[in-house]
Amino acid sequence: MLNIDRISKTFFAGTVNERKALVDLSLKLDEGDFVTVIGSNGAGKSTLLNAISGRYTVDTGELSIDGAPVSKLKEHQRAKYVGRVFQDPMAGTAPDLTIEQNLSLALQRGKSRGLGLSLTRAKRDLFVEELKSLELGLERRLPAKVGLLSGGQRQALSLLMAGFTQPRILLLDEHTAALDPQRAALVTDLTERIVAQGGLTTLMVTHNMEQALKLGNRLIMMHEGRIVFQATAEQKRELTVPDLLSEFAKIKGATFDDRALLA
Ligand SMILES: Nc1ncnc2c1ncn2[C@@H]1O[C@H](COP(=O)(O)OP(=O)(O)O)[C@@H](O)[C@H]1O
Ligand SMILES: [Mg+2]
Repeated sequence: MLNIDRISKTFFAGTVNERKALVDLSLKLDEGDFVTVIGSNGAGKSTLLNAISGRYTVDTGELSIDGAPVSKLKEHQRAKYVGRVFQDPMAGTAPDLTIEQNLSLALQRGKSRGLGLSLTRAKRDLFVEELKSLELGLERRLPAKVGLLSGGQRQALSLLMAGFTQPRILLLDEHTAALDPQRAALVTDLTERIVAQGGLTTLMVTHNMEQALKLGNRLIMMHEGRIVFQATAEQKRELTVPDLLSEFAKIKGATFDDRALLA
């Protein structure tokens, strides 16, 4: 359903600051694939997600979703295909709007018309139901401004909102990295549930190799803008963290620092 065909992206091309963030990268995702993405800092993981969401246009190559080319579409034109949760809990929700207003907007997104902020009884009931499932007590705080919530609460809300929009593809960029271990575990569980419920095709970047192995049905490892290792569903079941580290050690040019960063 997602076809990425030989995309490249270079920042500051031709200057001393040139950064080849993506190099001739190809990747195909089938409907319902849940792919975890690992790699050292600067490997191009976020750039890959940004290329899919349309935040950055690629220099060369093509991206298509459900057979339709999207490379030329602007970020807002791709919004109906793409749901995103970022590392920064502040990025995914509107802090000055209330919990119910944020949820309303998410429910509205991708639909052609309507009053995004209008709240019907049915909508409110749905929100209460969904928020209860988070077990964070947010169902009692519908009129509270989202800016008042903790990082973990905001990430949970962002995920719920991403699920509401039923995106064709869900992009998660280290969305548990800024949370304490307990909150991170909660948001990880929620991620599994929302992806499974919606059968969402998902790309999830994580620094946590245990998590990369535990979640999803496929895994890719990136380095210097390329995919340097891939595991299919069957291979992934057998893989261990030491296996991943030894795969990483095989990469030409990878330094010990890169290894440390990956772990
Ligand atoms: N907006 C940008 N402007 C300039 N360089 C960038 C930008 N975004 C990413 N890069 C560079 O592209 C490379 C890949 O970055 P990134 O995709 O953020 O890596 P990762 O998410 O794997 O850590 C890095 O060298 C980074 O410095
Ligand atoms: Mg990144």
